[in-house]
Amino acid sequence: MDTPNALRSGWASRFGFILAATGSAVGLGNIWKFPYITGIHGGGAFVLVYLLCILLLGLPIMVAELLIGRCGQRDAIGSFMVLEGRKSPWRLVGWGSVAAAFVLLSFYSVVAGWSFDYVCKAATGILHRGNPEQISGLFGELTASAPRLVFWQALFILTTVGIVIGGIRGGIERWSKILMPGLFGLLILLFLHGMFSPGGMQSLKFMFVPDFTKLTSRSLLDALGHAFFTLSLGAGVMITYGSYLDPEADLFGLSFRIALLDTLVAMLASLTIFSVVFSAGMPIDGGPGLVFKTLPILFMQLPFGKVLALVFFLLLAFAALTSAISMLEVVVAYVIDEWGWRRAKATSFGGGAAFLLGIPCALSFNLWEGIKLLPGRTVFQSFDMLVSSYLLPLGGLMVSLYAGWVWTKEREKPASCRLADSGVLFAVWHFLVRYLAPAAVLLVLLNEAGLFS
Ligand code: PFF
Repeated sequence: MDTPNALRSGWASRFGFILAATGSAVGLGNIWKFPYITGIHGGGAFVLVYLLCILLLGLPIMVAELLIGRCGQRDAIGSFMVLEGRKSPWRLVGWGSVAAAFVLLSFYSVVAGWSFDYVCKAATGILHRGNPEQISGLFGELTASAPRLVFWQALFILTTVGIVIGGIRGGIERWSKILMPGLFGLLILLFLHGMFSPGGMQSLKFMFVPDFTKLTSRSLLDALGHAFFTLSLGAGVMITYGSYLDPEADLFGLSFRIALLDTLVAMLASLTIFSVVFSAGMPIDGGPGLVFKTLPILFMQLPFGKVLALVFFLLLAFAALTSAISMLEVVVAYVIDEWGWRRAKATSFGGGAAFLLGIPCALSFNLWEGIKLLPGRTVFQSFDMLVSSYLLPLGGLMVSLYAGWVWTKEREKPASCRLADSGVLFAVWHFLVRYLAPAAVLLVLLNEAGLFS
Protein backbone atom coordinates (compact mmCIF):
# COMPACT_ATOMS: atom_id res chain seq x y z
CA MET A 1 0.00 0.00 0.00
CA ASP A 2 1.21 3.51 -0.86
CA THR A 3 1.22 6.00 1.93
CA PRO A 4 -2.18 7.65 2.03
CA ASN A 5 -2.31 11.44 1.66
CA ALA A 6 -2.44 13.56 4.76
CA LEU A 7 -6.03 13.51 6.05
CA ARG A 8 -7.99 15.95 3.93
CA SER A 9 -10.49 18.44 5.16
CA GLY A 10 -13.95 16.97 5.28
CA TRP A 11 -17.37 17.03 6.84
CA ALA A 12 -17.92 19.52 9.64
CA SER A 13 -19.89 16.92 11.60
CA ARG A 14 -21.01 13.28 11.41
CA PHE A 15 -24.57 14.50 11.32
CA GLY A 16 -23.71 16.57 8.24
CA PHE A 17 -22.21 13.50 6.63
CA ILE A 18 -25.30 11.41 7.40
CA LEU A 19 -27.54 14.04 5.83
CA ALA A 20 -25.37 14.35 2.72
CA ALA A 21 -25.03 10.58 2.24
CA THR A 22 -28.73 10.07 2.94
CA GLY A 23 -29.38 12.88 0.48
CA SER A 24 -27.50 10.93 -2.13
CA ALA A 25 -29.39 7.73 -1.36
CA VAL A 26 -32.82 9.35 -1.21
CA GLY A 27 -33.76 10.43 -4.71
CA LEU A 28 -36.00 9.76 -7.67
CA GLY A 29 -35.36 6.10 -6.88
CA ASN A 30 -37.31 6.36 -3.62
CA ILE A 31 -40.16 8.64 -4.59
CA TRP A 32 -40.67 7.93 -8.28
CA LYS A 33 -39.33 4.43 -8.94
CA PHE A 34 -39.83 2.39 -5.75
CA PRO A 35 -43.59 3.08 -5.51
CA TYR A 36 -44.25 2.13 -9.10
CA ILE A 37 -42.17 -1.06 -9.08
CA THR A 38 -43.77 -2.07 -5.77
CA GLY A 39 -47.14 -1.47 -7.43
CA ILE A 40 -46.21 -3.63 -10.40
CA HIS A 41 -44.78 -6.45 -8.25
CA GLY A 42 -47.84 -6.66 -6.01
CA GLY A 43 -46.75 -5.04 -2.72
CA GLY A 44 -45.93 -6.82 0.58
CA ALA A 45 -43.88 -9.80 -0.58
CA PHE A 46 -41.77 -7.63 -2.86
CA VAL A 47 -41.19 -5.15 -0.03
CA LEU A 48 -39.96 -7.96 2.18
CA VAL A 49 -37.46 -9.20 -0.40
CA TYR A 50 -36.32 -5.64 -1.00
CA LEU A 51 -35.70 -5.14 2.73
CA LEU A 52 -33.61 -8.31 2.84
CA CYS A 53 -31.55 -7.11 -0.14
CA ILE A 54 -30.86 -3.79 1.58
CA LEU A 55 -29.84 -5.49 4.82
CA LEU A 56 -27.80 -8.43 3.50
CA LEU A 57 -26.28 -7.01 0.32
CA GLY A 58 -26.57 -3.23 0.14
CA LEU A 59 -25.48 -2.47 3.67
CA PRO A 60 -22.25 -4.53 3.63
CA ILE A 61 -21.24 -3.04 0.27
CA MET A 62 -21.89 0.46 1.57
CA VAL A 63 -19.56 -0.22 4.52
CA ALA A 64 -16.94 -1.49 2.07
CA GLU A 65 -17.17 1.60 -0.15
CA LEU A 66 -16.92 4.00 2.78
CA LEU A 67 -13.93 2.07 4.08
CA ILE A 68 -12.10 2.17 0.74
CA GLY A 69 -12.63 5.94 0.51
CA ARG A 70 -11.66 6.69 4.08
CA CYS A 71 -8.53 4.59 3.82
CA GLY A 72 -7.48 5.94 0.41
CA GLN A 73 -8.28 9.59 1.25
CA ARG A 74 -8.80 10.27 -2.44
CA ASP A 75 -11.44 10.18 -5.18
CA ALA A 76 -12.94 6.86 -6.37
CA ILE A 77 -10.07 6.09 -8.78
CA GLY A 78 -7.28 7.58 -6.68
CA SER A 79 -8.34 5.60 -3.60
CA PHE A 80 -7.79 2.31 -5.40
CA MET A 81 -4.42 3.57 -6.68
CA VAL A 82 -3.37 4.55 -3.16
CA LEU A 83 -4.43 1.17 -1.79
CA GLU A 84 -3.20 -1.11 -4.56
CA GLY A 85 -0.62 0.88 -6.51
CA ARG A 86 -0.84 3.24 -9.47
CA LYS A 87 -0.91 0.56 -12.10
CA SER A 88 -3.12 -1.91 -10.28
CA PRO A 89 -6.09 -3.25 -12.30
CA TRP A 90 -8.32 -2.35 -9.33
CA ARG A 91 -8.15 1.26 -10.46
CA LEU A 92 -10.41 0.19 -13.34
CA VAL A 93 -13.15 -0.36 -10.76
CA GLY A 94 -12.74 3.29 -9.85
CA TRP A 95 -12.88 4.23 -13.52
CA GLY A 96 -16.13 2.33 -13.97
CA SER A 97 -17.60 4.12 -10.95
CA VAL A 98 -16.69 7.61 -12.12
CA ALA A 99 -18.03 6.83 -15.59
CA ALA A 100 -21.26 5.51 -14.06
CA ALA A 101 -21.74 8.63 -11.93
CA PHE A 102 -21.09 10.89 -14.92
CA VAL A 103 -23.46 9.13 -17.33
CA LEU A 104 -26.05 8.78 -14.57
CA LEU A 105 -25.97 12.52 -13.95
CA SER A 106 -26.62 13.20 -17.63
CA PHE A 107 -29.91 11.30 -17.82
CA TYR A 108 -30.99 11.67 -14.18
CA SER A 109 -31.00 15.42 -14.72
CA VAL A 110 -33.58 15.04 -17.49
CA VAL A 111 -36.11 13.35 -15.16
CA ALA A 112 -35.15 15.71 -12.35
CA GLY A 113 -35.93 18.56 -14.75
CA TRP A 114 -39.50 17.20 -15.01
CA SER A 115 -39.87 17.68 -11.26
CA PHE A 116 -38.80 21.34 -11.63
CA ASP A 117 -41.36 21.78 -14.39
CA TYR A 118 -44.09 20.25 -12.20
CA VAL A 119 -43.20 22.48 -9.25
CA CYS A 120 -43.72 25.41 -11.61
CA LYS A 121 -46.98 23.96 -12.95
CA ALA A 122 -48.29 23.36 -9.43
CA ALA A 123 -47.27 26.82 -8.21
CA THR A 124 -48.82 28.68 -11.14
CA GLY A 125 -52.02 26.63 -11.15
CA ILE A 126 -51.53 25.12 -14.63
CA LEU A 127 -51.59 21.68 -13.04
CA HIS A 128 -55.08 22.24 -11.70
CA ARG A 129 -56.84 23.36 -14.83
CA GLY A 130 -58.94 21.18 -17.09
CA ASN A 131 -60.32 17.66 -16.94
CA PRO A 132 -58.36 14.52 -16.03
CA GLU A 133 -57.32 13.82 -19.61
CA GLN A 134 -55.94 17.31 -19.98
CA ILE A 135 -54.06 17.03 -16.70
CA SER A 136 -52.43 13.72 -17.55
CA GLY A 137 -51.82 15.05 -21.07
CA LEU A 138 -49.54 17.72 -19.62
CA PHE A 139 -46.85 15.11 -19.20
CA GLY A 140 -46.91 14.18 -22.90
CA GLU A 141 -46.81 17.86 -23.82
CA LEU A 142 -43.75 18.38 -21.68
CA THR A 143 -41.78 15.42 -22.99
CA ALA A 144 -42.72 16.28 -26.58
CA SER A 145 -41.06 19.67 -26.30
CA ALA A 146 -37.29 19.48 -26.80
CA PRO A 147 -36.57 23.11 -25.81
CA ARG A 148 -38.51 22.77 -22.55
CA LEU A 149 -36.79 19.54 -21.57
CA VAL A 150 -33.37 20.97 -22.31
CA PHE A 151 -34.21 24.18 -20.46
CA TRP A 152 -35.26 22.37 -17.26
CA GLN A 153 -32.35 19.98 -17.48
CA ALA A 154 -29.97 22.94 -17.85
CA LEU A 155 -31.53 24.71 -14.87
CA PHE A 156 -31.30 21.57 -12.77
CA ILE A 157 -27.61 21.01 -13.58
CA LEU A 158 -26.88 24.68 -12.99
CA THR A 159 -28.43 24.45 -9.51
CA THR A 160 -26.39 21.32 -8.80
CA VAL A 161 -23.20 23.03 -9.96
CA GLY A 162 -24.05 26.07 -7.81
CA ILE A 163 -24.15 23.87 -4.72
CA VAL A 164 -21.15 21.61 -5.44
CA ILE A 165 -18.94 24.59 -6.26
CA GLY A 166 -19.27 25.64 -2.60
CA GLY A 167 -17.26 22.56 -1.56
CA ILE A 168 -17.90 19.83 0.99
CA ARG A 169 -18.77 21.96 4.00
CA GLY A 170 -19.89 25.20 2.42
CA GLY A 171 -21.86 23.60 -0.41
CA ILE A 172 -22.85 19.95 -0.07
CA GLU A 173 -23.12 19.70 3.72
CA ARG A 174 -24.70 23.11 4.14
CA TRP A 175 -27.38 22.52 1.53
CA SER A 176 -28.05 18.96 2.69
CA LYS A 177 -28.78 20.39 6.12
CA ILE A 178 -31.47 22.58 4.56
CA LEU A 179 -32.86 20.29 1.88
CA MET A 180 -33.01 17.01 3.82
CA PRO A 181 -34.96 18.23 6.88
CA GLY A 182 -37.18 20.07 4.38
CA LEU A 183 -37.72 16.83 2.53
CA PHE A 184 -38.53 14.89 5.71
CA GLY A 185 -40.91 17.60 6.89
CA LEU A 186 -42.81 17.70 3.59
CA LEU A 187 -42.95 13.92 3.41
CA ILE A 188 -44.34 13.51 6.93
CA LEU A 189 -46.98 16.12 6.18
CA LEU A 190 -48.09 14.28 3.06
CA PHE A 191 -47.88 10.92 4.80
CA LEU A 192 -50.15 11.96 7.67
CA HIS A 193 -52.61 13.35 5.21
CA GLY A 194 -52.52 10.08 3.26
CA MET A 195 -53.01 7.88 6.31
CA PHE A 196 -56.17 9.73 7.31
CA SER A 197 -57.60 9.50 3.81
CA PRO A 198 -60.03 6.68 2.91
CA GLY A 199 -57.27 4.71 1.14
CA GLY A 200 -54.89 4.82 4.14
CA MET A 201 -55.66 1.38 5.58
CA GLN A 202 -55.69 -0.32 2.22
CA SER A 203 -52.32 1.20 1.44
CA LEU A 204 -50.84 -0.15 4.70
CA LYS A 205 -52.19 -3.61 3.92
CA PHE A 206 -50.83 -3.54 0.40
CA MET A 207 -47.35 -2.66 1.62
CA PHE A 208 -47.07 -4.88 4.68
CA VAL A 209 -49.25 -7.96 4.20
CA PRO A 210 -47.18 -10.20 1.96
CA ASP A 211 -48.80 -12.33 -0.70
CA PHE A 212 -46.06 -14.64 -1.88
CA THR A 213 -48.01 -15.86 -4.89
CA LYS A 214 -47.32 -12.47 -6.48
CA LEU A 215 -43.56 -13.01 -6.34
CA THR A 216 -41.75 -13.94 -9.56
CA SER A 217 -38.05 -14.36 -10.34
CA ARG A 218 -38.23 -10.94 -11.99
CA SER A 219 -39.39 -9.48 -8.64
CA LEU A 220 -36.30 -10.84 -6.91
CA LEU A 221 -33.98 -9.37 -9.51
CA ASP A 222 -35.72 -6.02 -9.55
CA ALA A 223 -35.59 -5.86 -5.75
CA LEU A 224 -31.86 -6.47 -5.79
CA GLY A 225 -31.13 -4.07 -8.64
CA HIS A 226 -33.14 -1.37 -6.94
CA ALA A 227 -31.45 -1.92 -3.58
CA PHE A 228 -28.19 -0.94 -5.29
CA PHE A 229 -29.57 2.03 -7.09
CA THR A 230 -31.37 3.42 -4.09
CA LEU A 231 -28.31 3.22 -1.82
CA SER A 232 -26.15 4.93 -4.49
CA LEU A 233 -23.78 1.97 -4.66
CA GLY A 234 -21.37 1.13 -7.45
CA ALA A 235 -20.94 4.73 -8.63
CA GLY A 236 -18.15 5.83 -6.32
CA VAL A 237 -20.39 8.06 -4.21
CA MET A 238 -19.74 6.30 -0.91
CA ILE A 239 -16.02 6.00 -1.71
CA THR A 240 -15.83 9.74 -2.39
CA TYR A 241 -18.00 10.76 0.58
CA GLY A 242 -16.10 8.27 2.76
CA SER A 243 -12.81 9.97 1.86
CA TYR A 244 -14.01 13.07 3.72
CA LEU A 245 -14.81 11.09 6.91
CA ASP A 246 -12.76 11.15 10.09
CA PRO A 247 -10.80 8.01 11.09
CA GLU A 248 -12.83 7.36 14.23
CA ALA A 249 -16.25 7.31 12.59
CA ASP A 250 -18.07 4.00 13.06
CA LEU A 251 -18.77 2.88 9.51
CA PHE A 252 -21.23 0.15 10.51
CA GLY A 253 -23.33 2.55 12.54
CA LEU A 254 -23.26 5.29 9.91
CA SER A 255 -24.16 2.93 7.06
CA PHE A 256 -26.99 1.48 9.08
CA ARG A 257 -28.47 4.91 9.71
CA ILE A 258 -28.20 5.94 6.05
CA ALA A 259 -29.87 2.72 4.87
CA LEU A 260 -32.56 3.05 7.52
CA LEU A 261 -33.43 6.62 6.56
CA ASP A 262 -33.39 5.73 2.87
CA THR A 263 -35.76 2.82 3.49
CA LEU A 264 -38.00 4.94 5.66
CA VAL A 265 -38.39 7.54 2.90
CA ALA A 266 -39.16 4.86 0.30
CA MET A 267 -41.80 3.34 2.61
CA LEU A 268 -43.43 6.66 3.55
CA ALA A 269 -43.47 7.85 -0.06
CA SER A 270 -45.04 4.60 -1.26
CA LEU A 271 -47.65 4.53 1.51
CA THR A 272 -48.59 8.12 0.72
CA ILE A 273 -48.83 7.58 -3.03
CA PHE A 274 -50.80 4.33 -2.64
CA SER A 275 -53.23 5.90 -0.19
CA VAL A 276 -54.00 8.59 -2.77
CA VAL A 277 -54.37 6.01 -5.54
CA PHE A 278 -56.57 3.73 -3.41
CA SER A 279 -58.70 6.63 -2.22
CA ALA A 280 -59.59 7.34 -5.82
CA GLY A 281 -60.13 3.66 -6.59
CA MET A 282 -57.46 3.66 -9.29
CA PRO A 283 -55.28 0.66 -10.27
CA ILE A 284 -52.01 0.51 -8.39
CA ASP A 285 -49.83 -0.82 -11.22
CA GLY A 286 -49.73 2.36 -13.29
CA GLY A 287 -45.97 2.06 -13.99
CA PRO A 288 -43.59 4.97 -14.57
CA GLY A 289 -46.44 7.43 -15.23
CA LEU A 290 -47.77 6.92 -11.68
CA VAL A 291 -46.16 10.04 -10.25
CA PHE A 292 -46.39 12.45 -13.19
CA LYS A 293 -49.67 11.40 -14.80
CA THR A 294 -51.87 9.66 -12.21
CA LEU A 295 -51.02 11.60 -9.05
CA PRO A 296 -51.76 15.12 -10.35
CA ILE A 297 -55.28 14.01 -11.31
CA LEU A 298 -55.83 12.49 -7.90
CA PHE A 299 -54.50 15.50 -6.04
CA MET A 300 -57.17 17.57 -7.74
CA GLN A 301 -59.86 15.42 -6.15
CA LEU A 302 -58.52 15.84 -2.62
CA PRO A 303 -59.17 18.64 -0.19
CA PHE A 304 -56.11 20.96 -0.22
CA GLY A 305 -55.08 19.17 -3.42
CA LYS A 306 -53.34 22.22 -4.86
CA VAL A 307 -51.10 22.65 -1.85
CA LEU A 308 -50.43 18.91 -1.64
CA ALA A 309 -49.38 18.76 -5.28
CA LEU A 310 -46.96 21.64 -4.83
CA VAL A 311 -45.51 20.07 -1.69
CA PHE A 312 -45.14 16.72 -3.40
CA PHE A 313 -43.26 18.00 -6.44
CA LEU A 314 -41.03 20.17 -4.28
CA LEU A 315 -40.19 17.04 -2.33
CA LEU A 316 -39.30 15.23 -5.53
CA ALA A 317 -37.12 18.13 -6.70
CA PHE A 318 -35.24 18.30 -3.37
CA ALA A 319 -34.65 14.55 -3.41
CA ALA A 320 -33.34 14.62 -6.98
CA LEU A 321 -31.06 17.54 -6.23
CA THR A 322 -29.26 15.98 -3.26
CA SER A 323 -28.65 12.83 -5.34
CA ALA A 324 -27.34 14.74 -8.35
CA ILE A 325 -24.98 16.65 -6.05
CA SER A 326 -23.34 13.36 -5.08
CA MET A 327 -22.97 12.22 -8.69
CA LEU A 328 -21.28 15.47 -9.65
CA GLU A 329 -19.02 15.33 -6.57
CA VAL A 330 -17.68 11.93 -7.70
CA VAL A 331 -16.53 13.48 -10.97
CA VAL A 332 -15.34 16.73 -9.36
CA ALA A 333 -13.31 14.92 -6.67
CA TYR A 334 -11.60 12.92 -9.42
CA VAL A 335 -10.73 16.00 -11.48
CA ILE A 336 -9.46 17.88 -8.40
CA ASP A 337 -7.44 14.99 -6.97
CA GLU A 338 -6.02 13.53 -10.16
CA TRP A 339 -5.77 16.50 -12.52
CA GLY A 340 -5.04 19.10 -9.86
CA TRP A 341 -7.79 21.50 -10.99
CA ARG A 342 -9.43 24.03 -8.70
CA ARG A 343 -12.94 23.18 -7.49
CA ALA A 344 -14.70 25.96 -9.41
CA LYS A 345 -13.13 24.92 -12.69
CA ALA A 346 -13.64 21.20 -12.05
CA THR A 347 -17.29 21.67 -11.12
CA SER A 348 -18.12 23.84 -14.14
CA PHE A 349 -16.34 21.37 -16.39
CA GLY A 350 -18.08 18.30 -14.92
CA GLY A 351 -21.50 19.96 -14.90
CA GLY A 352 -21.07 21.34 -18.43
CA ALA A 353 -19.99 17.98 -19.82
CA ALA A 354 -22.87 16.15 -18.13
CA PHE A 355 -25.27 18.73 -19.54
CA LEU A 356 -23.97 18.18 -23.08
CA LEU A 357 -24.25 14.41 -22.71
CA GLY A 358 -27.75 14.88 -21.32
CA ILE A 359 -29.02 16.72 -24.40
CA PRO A 360 -29.34 13.56 -26.55
CA CYS A 361 -31.13 11.97 -23.56
CA ALA A 362 -33.67 14.81 -23.50
CA LEU A 363 -34.08 14.58 -27.26
CA SER A 364 -34.84 10.85 -27.00
CA PHE A 365 -38.34 11.79 -25.88
CA ASN A 366 -39.08 13.83 -28.98
CA LEU A 367 -36.85 14.74 -31.96
CA TRP A 368 -34.55 11.74 -31.65
CA GLU A 369 -37.17 9.24 -30.56
CA GLY A 370 -36.38 7.10 -33.60
CA ILE A 371 -32.63 6.95 -32.93
CA LYS A 372 -31.63 3.74 -31.17
CA LEU A 373 -28.27 3.37 -29.45
CA LEU A 374 -28.72 -0.17 -28.16
CA PRO A 375 -31.15 -2.38 -30.10
CA GLY A 376 -34.70 -1.09 -29.61
CA ARG A 377 -33.64 1.52 -27.04
CA THR A 378 -33.44 5.30 -27.30
CA VAL A 379 -30.32 7.11 -26.06
CA PHE A 380 -32.02 7.72 -22.69
CA GLN A 381 -33.06 4.10 -22.31
CA SER A 382 -29.63 2.86 -23.41
CA PHE A 383 -27.82 5.03 -20.87
CA ASP A 384 -30.26 3.99 -18.16
CA MET A 385 -29.74 0.33 -18.97
CA LEU A 386 -25.96 0.67 -19.21
CA VAL A 387 -25.73 2.34 -15.80
CA SER A 388 -28.57 0.87 -13.73
CA SER A 389 -28.43 -2.69 -15.05
CA TYR A 390 -24.69 -3.10 -15.65
CA LEU A 391 -22.29 -0.47 -14.32
CA LEU A 392 -23.77 -0.08 -10.82
CA PRO A 393 -24.15 -3.82 -10.11
CA LEU A 394 -20.72 -4.49 -11.65
CA GLY A 395 -19.18 -1.76 -9.48
CA GLY A 396 -20.86 -3.26 -6.41
CA LEU A 397 -19.67 -6.75 -7.36
CA MET A 398 -16.06 -5.61 -7.70
CA VAL A 399 -16.17 -3.66 -4.44
CA SER A 400 -17.49 -6.69 -2.59
CA LEU A 401 -14.86 -8.94 -4.18
CA TYR A 402 -12.18 -6.44 -3.24
CA ALA A 403 -13.39 -6.09 0.34
CA GLY A 404 -13.99 -9.82 0.76
CA TRP A 405 -10.92 -11.31 -0.89
CA VAL A 406 -8.18 -8.70 -1.27
CA TRP A 407 -8.72 -6.58 1.81
CA THR A 408 -7.53 -8.84 4.60
CA LYS A 409 -7.98 -8.21 8.25
CA GLU A 410 -4.37 -8.95 9.09
CA ARG A 411 -2.85 -6.05 7.20
CA GLU A 412 -1.07 -3.29 8.99
CA LYS A 413 -3.46 -0.43 8.76
CA PRO A 414 -3.73 3.13 10.03
CA ALA A 415 -6.87 4.01 11.97
CA SER A 416 -8.69 5.37 8.91
CA CYS A 417 -8.39 1.92 7.30
CA ARG A 418 -9.87 -0.03 10.18
CA LEU A 419 -13.45 -0.95 10.82
CA ALA A 420 -14.70 -0.49 14.35
CA ASP A 421 -14.87 -4.23 14.53
CA SER A 422 -16.76 -5.74 17.33
CA GLY A 423 -15.85 -9.30 16.45
CA VAL A 424 -19.22 -10.69 15.48
CA LEU A 425 -20.21 -7.69 13.40
CA PHE A 426 -16.96 -7.82 11.48
CA ALA A 427 -17.30 -11.56 10.92
CA VAL A 428 -20.84 -11.21 9.60
CA TRP A 429 -19.82 -8.31 7.34
CA HIS A 430 -16.84 -10.24 6.03
CA PHE A 431 -18.96 -13.29 5.27
CA LEU A 432 -21.53 -11.18 3.42
CA VAL A 433 -19.03 -9.27 1.25
CA ARG A 434 -16.96 -12.37 0.63
CA TYR A 435 -19.65 -14.84 -0.35
CA LEU A 436 -23.26 -13.73 -0.39
CA ALA A 437 -22.98 -10.33 -2.08
CA PRO A 438 -20.75 -11.40 -4.99
CA ALA A 439 -22.86 -14.50 -5.66
CA ALA A 440 -26.14 -12.58 -5.61
CA VAL A 441 -24.91 -9.71 -7.75
CA LEU A 442 -23.32 -12.07 -10.25
CA LEU A 443 -26.66 -13.83 -10.59
CA VAL A 444 -28.40 -10.56 -11.37
CA LEU A 445 -25.78 -9.54 -13.91
CA LEU A 446 -25.90 -12.87 -15.70
CA ASN A 447 -29.66 -12.68 -15.77
CA GLU A 448 -29.58 -9.14 -17.18
CA ALA A 449 -27.23 -10.40 -19.87
CA GLY A 450 -29.92 -12.92 -20.79
CA LEU A 451 -28.17 -16.05 -19.61
CA PHE A 452 -31.22 -17.55 -17.93
CA SER A 453 -33.85 -16.46 -20.40
N1 PFF B 1 -29.84 6.81 -4.87
C1 PFF B 1 -30.38 7.66 -5.91
C2 PFF B 1 -31.89 7.46 -5.99
O1 PFF B 1 -32.43 6.59 -5.30
O2 PFF B 1 -32.53 8.19 -6.75
C3 PFF B 1 -29.78 7.37 -7.23
C4 PFF B 1 -28.29 7.36 -7.27
C5 PFF B 1 -27.56 8.46 -6.82
C6 PFF B 1 -27.63 6.25 -7.75
C7 PFF B 1 -26.18 8.45 -6.88
C8 PFF B 1 -26.26 6.22 -7.80
C9 PFF B 1 -25.55 7.33 -7.37
F1 PFF B 1 -24.27 7.31 -7.45
